[in-house]
Amino acid sequence: MRTIERIVEMQHWADAERARGERIGFVPTMGYLHEGHLSLVRRAKELCSRTVVSIFVNPLQFGPTEDLERYPRDLERDARLLSGEGVDVLFLPSYAEMYPAGFQTSVNVEEVTKGLCGASRPTHFRGVTTVVTKLFLAVKPHVAVFGEKDFQQLVTVRQLVRDLNFDISIVAAPIAREPDGLAMSSRNAYLAPHERAAATVLSRALRLAQQKVASGVRAAQELRAFVYQCLAEEPLARVDYVELVDVQRLRPITTIEGPTLLALAVFFGSTRLIDNCVLEVPTADRTLAAKENGIGGEPSGNV
Ligand code: PAJ
Repeated sequence: MRTIERIVEMQHWADAERARGERIGFVPTMGYLHEGHLSLVRRAKELCSRTVVSIFVNPLQFGPTEDLERYPRDLERDARLLSGEGVDVLFLPSYAEMYPAGFQTSVNVEEVTKGLCGASRPTHFRGVTTVVTKLFLAVKPHVAVFGEKDFQQLVTVRQLVRDLNFDISIVAAPIAREPDGLAMSSRNAYLAPHERAAATVLSRALRLAQQKVASGVRAAQELRAFVYQCLAEEPLARVDYVELVDVQRLRPITTIEGPTLLALAVFFGSTRLIDNCVLEVPTADRTLAAKENGIGGEPSGNV
């Protein structure tokens, strides 16, 4: 595995591979890798003949009171894991390489970034879309893989690619979980043992909500109240948000009629964790609801 630190060198490598007809798959990360990241790498390898992974802890996407300074890092281990997966290039730019003195441009996706995490982290997605744009222009991938763990990020990047005509396919990968259901996250490393045990309430609440929908509940208010109640059973859980939104544009819904994102953000101590699931309603139900609303029955496109 080759490590590249300079943007021009990354671009030359990409140009040379493209000229040879290779397809470049890309997985952007902030490092401290876990199985979730590696599942994205494997997906990229299935789809492409060359794979690039970037590690860059992007200060632009952290708020002033957030965890930039203590964000976990272990470059040696990360490099070993990526090399073991057969990654071709580890792109490892420095802060000065990404944001040299005088840097003053940002990229912002306006609408889908307003709710959910955007409401409590108002500068976060601008930082994400700015760095992702720069990474795309450095790595020049054909395909980039993003996890559904950060569902709003995935929707935002899809919008970015569409709006700015990036010639890149965005591929979604499912959430990788620990055996007890906790969604894998670099931030799980912050949890004290009693918080780690408490955090299983997130996936439990999602599963119980799915069961509610399967048993016929369709009112968003009722389902939200139910999820709050599930979370309240864990005294260490402090809810940031519980939202039900449509999967395409992330707008709040009142009745579950098509694929609906149930998204949670919950603090355990000072650690903020997110998790989500897509609630599906039976097709017969959906067709009926669509008829009643006078719209097409099937959702368009995939997330
Ligand atoms: P990071 O949190 O390191 O995540 C990198 C990628 O791994 C993202 O696409 C994220 O959704 C995915 N991922 C994280 N945990 C996952 C899990 N349990 N299952 C599946 N996929 C998972 O997301 C970022 O970094 C940054 O915002 C970045 C896109 C790199 C821009 O700085």
